[in-house]
Amino acid sequence: MSYIARRAFSTSRTNLSKVTVLGANGGIGQPLSLLLKLNKDVTQLSLYDLRGAPGVAADVSHIPTNSTVVGHLPEENGIKAALEGSEIVLIPAGVPRKPGMTRDDLFSINASIVRDLAKAVAEYAPKAFVAVISNPVNSTVPIVAEVFKSKGVYDPKRLFGVTTLDVIRAERFISEIKKTDPTAESVTVVGGHSGHTIVPLLSQSNHPEISGDVLDKLIHRIQFGGDEVVQAKNGAGSATLSMAQAGSRFASSLLKAIKGEKNIVEPTFVESPLFKEEGIDFFSSKVTLGPNGVEEIHGLGPLNKYEENLIEVAKVDLAKNIQKGVDFVKQNP
Ligand code: NAD
Ligand code: LMR
Repeated sequence: MSYIARRAFSTSRTNLSKVTVLGANGGIGQPLSLLLKLNKDVTQLSLYDLRGAPGVAADVSHIPTNSTVVGHLPEENGIKAALEGSEIVLIPAGVPRKPGMTRDDLFSINASIVRDLAKAVAEYAPKAFVAVISNPVNSTVPIVAEVFKSKGVYDPKRLFGVTTLDVIRAERFISEIKKTDPTAESVTVVGGHSGHTIVPLLSQSNHPEISGDVLDKLIHRIQFGGDEVVQAKNGAGSATLSMAQAGSRFASSLLKAIKGEKNIVEPTFVESPLFKEEGIDFFSSKVTLGPNGVEEIHGLGPLNKYEENLIEVAKVDLAKNIQKGVDFVKQNP
């Protein structure tokens, strides 16, 4: 079933960008859809969920920006209509954590959700840029890659794990300590998206002097910022609003890059040469985005001993998380 909530974009516009959200009725999906409706580079917003997507579409469609919004449900192959012609597909579908859970505990449910959605993307939008939000990102991105490989449509330049939330948290938390304007902070966060795989490179920030106990606490807060929200929500889910902002920032950067804007750089979890020789095929680092997606994967830059140790620790979990995703698709195609 599909529901055309609104059709009202300017016909003079030539750059058409259809953006699809898979999981649009969720805690992330709804505010992310709102922020995408406000993005002038989005001309068609396509919202898909197992339930509720037409309602979200009808709601955001009343906002007077130049984009159409269509909500889709699984009935009558709604996912086909949701995906066909899509330039960017954002995937926040899946269950969130409750207190006491790790992101890896979500694997048993989210792996098959992401695998099945990846199959649909491979069939109906094989050229789309795909940004995976569903956790555990360290495993769900390799799952999408394996599905795409099995369907012969894998382009590593077009697949991203969204780690932007770690970046915006780092910028916020460092500004709280230094009493600065958070919008003027810039922190590179590399590695993956869970606990010790999240590695903030504070020596490259505006405040390389942070050290000792303050540094240890700040690193821990950035690595485990997600747990702070999970605990505060007390069983009602994990970060949704800050994640929507992070997802919207990533989608916005991607849209600008696709349209040819230069020097668009975002840290993101991609297939990466950085530690391939050690068997780690995916890694998050700064990536220059361009019209074809990944244009340049940046190295980590100068690291101090403390950061080198953090990277070594991160690699252990990352290798396992990636392999788990790859094995899942091999065993459950
Ligand atoms: P939620 O439960 O509020 O929403 C998930 C939505 O996905 C629901 O509306 C559900 O109906 C939908 N869904 C489930 N299976 C689907 C399918 N097969 N097809 C389409 N839709 C489907 O959860 P949430 O808080 O929005 O979180 C979603 C995911 O994002 C979780 O896995 C969470 O851990 C993850 N997350 C990632 C980050 C990150 O930084 N990458 C940050 C926050 C949350
Ligand atoms: C986050 O970092 O907030 C998300 O990955 C959600 C979670 O489970 O912590």
